[in-house]
Amino acid sequence: MRTTRFSALAVGLLILGSGLLASRALGQAQRFPPLGPLSPVPVPPDNPMSAAKVELGTLLFFDTRLSGDASTSCASCHDPKQGWGDGGKLSRGYPGTEHWRNSQTVLNAAYYSKLFWAGEVTSLESQADAAATGNVAGNGDPMMMEERLRQIPEYVRRFKEVFGVDRPTISMAWMAIAAFERTLVSKPENVPFDRYIMGNQSALSPQAKRGLALFEGKALCIQCHSGPLLSDESYHNLAVPRNPEFEDNPLRQITLRFQHVTRGVPETLYRNADQDLGLYYTTKQEIDKGKFRTPSLRELKYTAPYMHNGVFGTLEEVIDFYNRGGGDDPNKSPLMRPLGLSDQEKKDLLAFLVSLSSDQPLIVEPPDLPDYVAMK
Ligand code: HEC
Ligand code: HEC
Repeated sequence: MRTTRFSALAVGLLILGSGLLASRALGQAQRFPPLGPLSPVPVPPDNPMSAAKVELGTLLFFDTRLSGDASTSCASCHDPKQGWGDGGKLSRGYPGTEHWRNSQTVLNAAYYSKLFWAGEVTSLESQADAAATGNVAGNGDPMMMEERLRQIPEYVRRFKEVFGVDRPTISMAWMAIAAFERTLVSKPENVPFDRYIMGNQSALSPQAKRGLALFEGKALCIQCHSGPLLSDESYHNLAVPRNPEFEDNPLRQITLRFQHVTRGVPETLYRNADQDLGLYYTTKQEIDKGKFRTPSLRELKYTAPYMHNGVFGTLEEVIDFYNRGGGDDPNKSPLMRPLGLSDQEKKDLLAFLVSLSSDQPLIVEPPDLPDYVAMK
């Protein structure tokens, strides 16, 4: 009991100390939410967790029948063995299309209040719906997908057990998938940085400790990557370089223009669209062009390539980009400044970033899926 209290106090002091350090080094009165282990995953009151619901959600996440032509599951683009993304710079798309953004990891997605690269949706439940029905991802018709579920006796039995209904409904499928996603989170005991901040001094190498000080100080990362998720959940334009894979691929340009039209972007803008305008699609404010939601920096070891257009293949490239003060764009964030990091400091920062990943990747094997049975 005493040890628990003591270590809670130690963590508190540590966290307070690192927050102060950051504001001192940045020469600002401003304090940032301290880094630390993630708290238990938030669960919405209208979709409580249960083991049976998570099991059902696991099956549905891997089930290609939740798409238009029964070819594409969530796992097609969020493959556990690819850090729960698809491993490509830009994501694959529904057959006949190619996506124009990088497929995000779903690890720790349960902690965000805004999802997608530019925060277009606000809950995992509505996100699953948007993904499975969206024309460039699952392209499924909700009524058709619902009928398919009703023709699979094993699903009928499981939906009854979990939701108490006689027939599966598609919105319940999204609830089960969301419950499964809420289990895909970093456990503090598996993450070197979390073990360190909870009191184990030897969990971080001296190099990673120097990297932490840079992260909160000279390298200015804490300005946007703060709190347990290492994201301020705000939007910034870093002027990330363009990805030639987009510029040379007509299929990706088609999906981008299609997305402009469906999101109500004025024709003058989308006719010549050659880049992703990010938050602008939602707000239609000039000032939001090219802004994206700050992503978490947890599990980066497993989730390359990086940025909304996957333009950087390694964390070394990302650090060089920040060291230059980001890219070139009239709307670039004033928080982006050249950092003047030495080669040694870049290595230290890298060691810290890697310490934010679990020791082993979180893998879920594809389950055996239940079969259709003809109704007699
Ligand atoms: C064809 C590929 C594809 C399929 C299929 C797909 N996704 Fe995605 N997913 C993406 C891409 C690309 C993004 C980023 C989209 C954006 O920012 O516009 C994304 C983003 C997400 C996010 C947001 C993560 C974050 O950090 O904000 C979640 C959660 C997610 N997908 C879950 C799912 C689920 C659940 C399914 C199945 C119902 C699914 N996806 C199907 C490609 C796909
Ligand atoms: C002005 C806010 C801001 C600052 C400062 C900042 N970042 Fe970021 N970071 C972001 C945003 C926003 C993105 C996504 C940008 C995009 O895709 O266009 C991002 C993306 C990243 C990514 C890619 C993550 C992924 O999953 O693709 C890494 C790694 C990263 N930042 C590390 C750092 C480090 C290290 C520092 C300090 C040297 C830093 N950031 C400073 C806002 C910031």
